[in-house]
Amino acid sequence: MTFRPLLCLSLTLLFTLPAQASSQLALDKGCYNCHGEPPRRNTPGMAQLASDYARYRGQADAPQRLTDKLREGSLFAHIAAHERLSQEECITLMRWIIEGAK
Ligand code: HEC
Repeated sequence: MTFRPLLCLSLTLLFTLPAQASSQLALDKGCYNCHGEPPRRNTPGMAQLASDYARYRGQADAPQRLTDKLREGSLFAHIAAHERLSQEECITLMRWIIEGAK
């Protein structure tokens, strides 16, 4: 895989992003329109997502796996805000949610 060195580099960079930048990203991407407090009907709030995803802490590949799942959109009725995320943005957000979405 020729992309691997690049991927590793970007993962390293993402890992060092401060949490604040990630919450700003979530804001910019409209995540809180549905996952805010109170969340939209039938949608878990961000704190709920974070407590669901706390079980992935310590699993290095979890943000990547969740990213694939979320961006593919097959899981829940194709939510545009999910599918519009770039791979990097989504990995950042998944890691941030796993770490508590603060
Ligand atoms: C249009 C409303 C809407 C927007 C905007 C939205 N979501 Fe969602 N999201 C949903 C719904 C609905 C679900 C599915 C809830 C369910 O069925 O469990 C969901 C589920 C999720 C899940 C859980 C997936 C799982 O593994 O169960 C995550 C994580 C998530 N959203 C993250 C985000 C992020 C990050 C953003 C911002 C880029 C975002 N969402 C924007 C509506 C939205």
